[in-house]
Amino acid sequence: SLADVRIIDLPKILDERGNLSFLEENRHIPFEIKRSYWIYDVPGGEIRGGHSYRINQEVIIALSGSFDVVLNDGKEEKTYSLNRSYNALYVPNRIWRHMENFSTNSLAFVVASTIYNERDYERDFNNFKILNGGFNI
Ligand code: TYD
Repeated sequence: SLADVRIIDLPKILDERGNLSFLEENRHIPFEIKRSYWIYDVPGGEIRGGHSYRINQEVIIALSGSFDVVLNDGKEEKTYSLNRSYNALYVPNRIWRHMENFSTNSLAFVVASTIYNERDYERDFNNFKILNGGFNI
């Protein structure tokens, strides 16, 4: 659920020669990393995502520029604005997401817990709501 979403503060090594950040499996990422991908050259106004994963968990970082990640667990919605390369957004499985408001030259870097599998995608929001909307207990 949205309660499990969080910003992971990555290490930040400040240096007059330029700053450095890094991430390590287990230490900063709460899953075994099976894949990385990145989204770039997004034209102004475009929206990426618009789906959830049944199993895959992800960590999303704005390595450059900024964008918004809009998350919905079937009950409520929350928007995270990412604009620091040392802030990593943990998104568990079964969270509907889309990304919008990409700044010029922004770079979204994603580490994922599974290899790519189209069958892991839920691309129908109504189905997602039916499966995850439920009642709050
Ligand atoms: P998709 O995840 O649907 O993009 P977004 O949700 O950001 O709009 O992926 C777009 C296409 O890229 C899709 O046809 C499958 C392909 N793809 C891969 O082959 N491997 C991957 O790891 C990812 C993320 C996508």
